[in-house]
Amino acid sequence: MIFTDSRLPEIDTLHGIEILTDPESLKTYGKDWTKHFTAKARAVFLPRSTEQVKTIVEWARRTRIKLVPSGGRTGLSAGAFATNQEIVVSLSRMNRILELDTFDQTLRCEAGVITEEIQKYAREHGFYYPVDFAARGSSQIGGNVATNAGGIKVIRYGLTRQWVAGLKVVTGAGEVLDLNKSLVKNATGYDLRQLFIGSEGTLGIVTEVTVGLTKPPKDFVVFVMGTNDLSAIMEVYSRFKSRFNIFAYEMFTDLSLKYTTAHGGRAPFSTPAKYYVLLELERESDEYIERATEEMGQLLEEGLIEDGVISQSPQQAADLWALRENITEATSHKQPYKNDISVRVSRVPEFLTEMTTVIAKEHPDFEVVWFGHVGDGNLHVNILKPDALSSAEFVERCKKVDEKMFAMIEQFDGSVSAEHGVGLVKKTFLHHTRSNAEIALMKEIKRVFDPDLILNPGKIF
Ligand code: MLT
Ligand code: ZN
Repeated sequence: MIFTDSRLPEIDTLHGIEILTDPESLKTYGKDWTKHFTAKARAVFLPRSTEQVKTIVEWARRTRIKLVPSGGRTGLSAGAFATNQEIVVSLSRMNRILELDTFDQTLRCEAGVITEEIQKYAREHGFYYPVDFAARGSSQIGGNVATNAGGIKVIRYGLTRQWVAGLKVVTGAGEVLDLNKSLVKNATGYDLRQLFIGSEGTLGIVTEVTVGLTKPPKDFVVFVMGTNDLSAIMEVYSRFKSRFNIFAYEMFTDLSLKYTTAHGGRAPFSTPAKYYVLLELERESDEYIERATEEMGQLLEEGLIEDGVISQSPQQAADLWALRENITEATSHKQPYKNDISVRVSRVPEFLTEMTTVIAKEHPDFEVVWFGHVGDGNLHVNILKPDALSSAEFVERCKKVDEKMFAMIEQFDGSVSAEHGVGLVKKTFLHHTRSNAEIALMKEIKRVFDPDLILNPGKIF
């Protein structure tokens, strides 16, 4: 399609790039999964190559029209929202897997490849891509890089950062950088690749990613245990951690369970509990799982947990995981106001106790769904909108909770965003986690890579 809009000068220079301007596309591509923002995109550009991305960036520099890079749009910090007549640059058409190197154990692909496709492709070829999270079926690898995606297996495999072997990006200055080229060792100055990881599309547009792969684990076995004592969560973790290789350690509350069971899930057991933990182990051997089962029995005997269940098949493991992974979907009709904070792992119960007390005291009408990757200190705090409140009233009150929560986070030396990123949602709170000197340096770095400030305006700062 050739786009003719007098508001977009020199558009003919973009001839060949697919452009969408119909209202439905502007709405769809102009936003991500974040609630309480309104998309106002000017157009959507769908490049098919790094060259085309470069053309778009050069055009944007000349015209000073701002660009919002966009992946699978599963973000939860409005990092991919176009709220101010920006052009959305969607990488969706750049979705080819380019090369599997079985010796180096790397996979090179375009930025628009869906995360789950990478996982499946790796499995089909005898490898494993271990970064994993609930949005795997929609999120794209370029977006995973831009947000340094974490998810459910961080305690075993680390973040996206640990798996990026090489990166091709078009900077805001229109330069194409081919970074690290899959080298395992490379001591030649600043590792610019790492700078782009987690930069939320503010420094450049990722067009190609080379990820490292590993050998597939054996089958997973999932344990779900319930307790009424918050501090037992860490005790259970510590006991298993000292004897087993834990792949995931997640938590959710009875309220989360209420929503996931209403959404089609089955409670893990009938004994009621306030808190649930989900622990995942690899079936290293039957004897190994027997020992873990005995450990759980011991915890039960000591009264640290109320009840527990162990998956007996991959299907049962998936059903138990659904109780944790489906919370987002099961609560989305309540327009949750989301937070994804982190504190040091050992301080999770202390933080949770203090925070729940404050919210319950000051906002007794709020339902707060807590869950998260408790094994790495990352908690998701989802406040559900009471029907009696308008969206605007609700957001205003949630911002009051934010002020308290982030002040507390600062006291705990925690982070206002553990994995969702800063985007538009957290930028006013950045100073609770990063010092003025750090923020000033980040702004200077932004200017080096994006001198005309055309990339993802208003995000992070
Ligand atoms: C999750 O862990 O399920 C995701 O980060 C999504 C969410 O917080 O809703
Ligand atoms: Zn998460």
